[in-house]
Amino acid sequence: MFEEEEERIVNPELKETEEVLEKSLRPQFLAQYIGQPKVKAELSIYIQAAKAREEALDHVLLYGPPGLGKTTMAFVIANEMEVNLRQTSGPAIEKPGDLIAVLNELNPGDVLFIDEIHRLPRAAEELLYSAMEDFYVDIMVGQGPTSHPVHFPLPPFTLVGATTRAGMLSAPLRDRFGIISHMEYYTDEDLQEIVERSADIFQVEIVSEGAYELARRSRGTPRIANRLLKRVRDFAQVEADGVVNREIADRALSLLQVDNEGLDYVDQKLLKTLIEMYNGGPVGLSTLAVNIAEETETVEDMYEPYLIQKGFIKRTQRGRMATEKTYEHFGYAYPIENV
Ligand code: ADE
Repeated sequence: MFEEEEERIVNPELKETEEVLEKSLRPQFLAQYIGQPKVKAELSIYIQAAKAREEALDHVLLYGPPGLGKTTMAFVIANEMEVNLRQTSGPAIEKPGDLIAVLNELNPGDVLFIDEIHRLPRAAEELLYSAMEDFYVDIMVGQGPTSHPVHFPLPPFTLVGATTRAGMLSAPLRDRFGIISHMEYYTDEDLQEIVERSADIFQVEIVSEGAYELARRSRGTPRIANRLLKRVRDFAQVEADGVVNREIADRALSLLQVDNEGLDYVDQKLLKTLIEMYNGGPVGLSTLAVNIAEETETVEDMYEPYLIQKGFIKRTQRGRMATEKTYEHFGYAYPIENV
């Protein structure tokens, strides 16, 4: 018997079937991009300066949790620079030749977007060093005694790399990015604006309290907010008059097991494990991960950052610990020795 994998509604990773949906919602220019004020302010200056000098924009590294708009921002950069974007990803490049094929298609000033750049194979990554720094690659051609290097010049281009953690990149690669920007979780207010914009595009009627309820329970992540909006819309259509208000949003989210703090069942399981099995910690991340049947890396990149930001988990030298807020949230008494 195979146990069926349950679909996680708040999984911030992009499902293939959602690509079309995301494209339709994607802002095209900085002025339409909601949130990430620091990233936008910096990029706006660098883009204007590069355009005035008629140069390619310096290479940009975007890092942060999945679903926060790194791909969207890469497209916005290309639009603002008025150049084309070529897109690939670390896992899609299996050998150096795959990367050379992509580099070969670049026109002067173009943006090359590499998602999950930390997963590039080493040999391909090493090709990027000279490509980024001096716009050339040296390729070995032929085999055995006839093998020889061929110098292959490239047009000036902008590499936009995306990764969940900047620390996962090797130092030589990281050092070649002139602009390193951290994407942060969105504020409830910014997410509300995104939900209202998406509702407008989907032609969903939503009142501001409904949008706010969705926003504050979306883990600070636009991809999750937009996915929840679609589900809540169905709910409003069948159970009410099609208008998403706070009550409909709340009922739909509860049905989807997204709790009042925006935590889904995996978050809840992780925090309850921490309290019930480990007395609130400290416990190592990999031990926690095994208990909820997830990869340590997934817990570290996807679940934990948000739980730390919201004050449900504390990172200590001896491991992860539940906080007083966590005990309270699940209706447990906070152990007296922890006070
Ligand atoms: N849709 C998804 N993310 C967005 C953002 N940051 N701004 C505007 N619309 C969005």
